[in-house]
Amino acid sequence: MPARMPVIDDVSFGDLMNDPYPIYDRARQMGAVVRIEAANIALVTRFADITEIERDPDTYSSVNPGSLVNKVMGHTLMRKDGPAHKAERAAMEPALRPATAARCWAPQFEAICDRLIDTLHPAGRADLFDAFAAPVAALALDEVLGFGGVDWRTLALWSQSLMDGAGNYAGDPEVARLAAEAAAGIEAVIARMLPFHRENPNDSMLSAMAQAGQPLDQIHANIKVAVGGGLNEPRDAILTLVLGLLQNPGQRAAVEADPALWGPAFEEAVRWISPIGMYPRRVAREVTLGGVALAENQQIGLCVGAANRDPARFADPGRFDIFRPRQSHLAFGAGAHFCAGTWVARVLVSKLAVPRLFARLPNLRLDDAAPVQIRGWVFRGPTTLPVVWDV
Ligand code: HEM
Repeated sequence: MPARMPVIDDVSFGDLMNDPYPIYDRARQMGAVVRIEAANIALVTRFADITEIERDPDTYSSVNPGSLVNKVMGHTLMRKDGPAHKAERAAMEPALRPATAARCWAPQFEAICDRLIDTLHPAGRADLFDAFAAPVAALALDEVLGFGGVDWRTLALWSQSLMDGAGNYAGDPEVARLAAEAAAGIEAVIARMLPFHRENPNDSMLSAMAQAGQPLDQIHANIKVAVGGGLNEPRDAILTLVLGLLQNPGQRAAVEADPALWGPAFEEAVRWISPIGMYPRRVAREVTLGGVALAENQQIGLCVGAANRDPARFADPGRFDIFRPRQSHLAFGAGAHFCAGTWVARVLVSKLAVPRLFARLPNLRLDDAAPVQIRGWVFRGPTTLPVVWDV
């Protein structure tokens, strides 16, 4: 007999935003799917269950006609399954392949990082959120998309506005207005840049989509996905990796002595504090998951931020440990919708942005006078990272 879904109703939304991990621990112990009243959602928090779900898109579908993402961005590849999803994903992939990232984007990313470090170096102190991580992520994304130099703060605002709009379950009119403004801004850039990319084939995502003959509405929708999903996550991964290393001097020394450790250090950072903590799926037919009955059309949240701290998968999961045994994590999702930008993010964060920062800012350390803040659960990362270095 399937069990009724357990409920957590004694935590607030603020508790989730401040520190979701104790709540995830409780949920993981209570059952395979647990309703969190404060977030109005049923969450899957165990690593093995999310892995099983992502192997079965017929039962756990990404198609969701009523989704706010579709309302804000159009009918994107993220809310499609099967051949429709595959075709749209293939159209953007040439810009995101490992070889493209290494050959084309790495030199440009390196120049972006070094320019920013040149600017902030003389001050001897900075909040790395605004002074480094956010501009690096935005300027890098501008290159990959083929946007031709949109101001980084504008791109960051558009990205945030789209994500806020996609999570605007309360229907706040101001949030909806900003999301619509971002969508219009992005469409204007596409209109301006597309003729150039059609006539001058190149490595950018806009060019790849144009060469693949994608219709304009698909280009609009999927470029918005890349703007929404391709900026805050690398930004947060940069900050989290810097934080993990600064809090663990032994691990920092090991990485600085052996550059081959930058890769494992990056994977550990996004496991430890996953920039995307949760994404949704729709139950397409009645099913039982880990003994919990799920109805057709039930929405569930795949809480990869919790799964990446599942003690059944990772020993002492709350610890940042770049030496833990190699195990795949779920920070980039899994299955057909596995993050398309994984390789670009790896090159940007673990090969360039963070190594350049440690190499060029002598004796980089946390600023004892200003605390680090970390917030969020659907999206989570440091919101300030004050540091100092020797000049
Ligand atoms: C550390 C950085 C990043 C993290 C942690 C991350 C995480 C994720 C996750 C968890 C998903 C799956 C969402 C779902 O299934 O609903 C996803 C999808 C996606 N990501 Fe990323 N992402 C990162 C960077 C990027 C970058 C830099 C780009 C683009 C330049 C990008 C583009 C995409 C796209 C297009 C999808 C949709 C794929 C599909 O539906 O097939 N991501 N990402």
